[in-house]
Amino acid sequence: MSVAKKDYKIVTTKSLYEMKVNGEKISMLTAYDYTMAKIVDSSGVDVILVGDSASNVMAGHETTLPITLDQMIYHASSVVRAVERALVVVDLPFGTYQSDSKTALRSAIKVMKESGAHALKLEGGKEIKEGIKKILGAGIPVMGHLGLTPQSIYKFGTYNVRAKEEEEANQLIEDAKMLEKIGCFAIVLEKIPATLAEKVAQTVKIPIIGIGAGGGVDGQVLVVHDMIGMNNEFNPRFLRRYMNLFEDMSNAIGQYVSDVKSKDFPNANEQY
Ligand code: KIV
Repeated sequence: MSVAKKDYKIVTTKSLYEMKVNGEKISMLTAYDYTMAKIVDSSGVDVILVGDSASNVMAGHETTLPITLDQMIYHASSVVRAVERALVVVDLPFGTYQSDSKTALRSAIKVMKESGAHALKLEGGKEIKEGIKKILGAGIPVMGHLGLTPQSIYKFGTYNVRAKEEEEANQLIEDAKMLEKIGCFAIVLEKIPATLAEKVAQTVKIPIIGIGAGGGVDGQVLVVHDMIGMNNEFNPRFLRRYMNLFEDMSNAIGQYVSDVKSKDFPNANEQY
């Protein structure tokens, strides 16, 4: 099928599908607060993910597990207030959808009602199929997430590349097909071999967005604090750093400290 190329004024789940059909790559970045979301949105990013990586990036936790539904809603509503163009997708956090489909639906509705977000992302395949179906049944768009799913870090034991072995790779392909069949609008594939990710992107019609999954997929996602170098402790191979903001900000703040100490700041023009 061919679809006319568009300059999307507002990005929807349908726009993403059209981008895949047209071979236009989808750009996705995280944001967790109003100011960052304003910058990311006005820079032309198609999808803003209010990721549960906020647990690490904003709160300093070691994993994504501690962040709560109310904390995700706080971050998501701050982002939604800033965004004019991008599709805003919010992660359902650990423990709010895995137990049963009714709980999953209750969590999903709470996030949609209280944050104003456009869609949700859930980690996992066949084990959460019923929960996803229930959420989709309520008219809420769902993005899947397969491969390295950080909410399962204690099952995996490491953040190493997933699905290198045939059995796990085959299961991942089956899960991706299932997510497409039940109606998910896109899937994130995290840290899997590039050849496998490309195969998934060619097998399903819905967009596949990769992080550490190579260039053969339909779009890319990164954590914004990593790609602008605010976080200088995380150096995976898949990360391209566009700035070194940790160093630039440290220098600027160090200069401010020195100006205050030396009584250079404020000067005569910087007071009333
Ligand atoms: O929480 C997050 O930031 C994510 C991305 C890494 C895909 O899920």
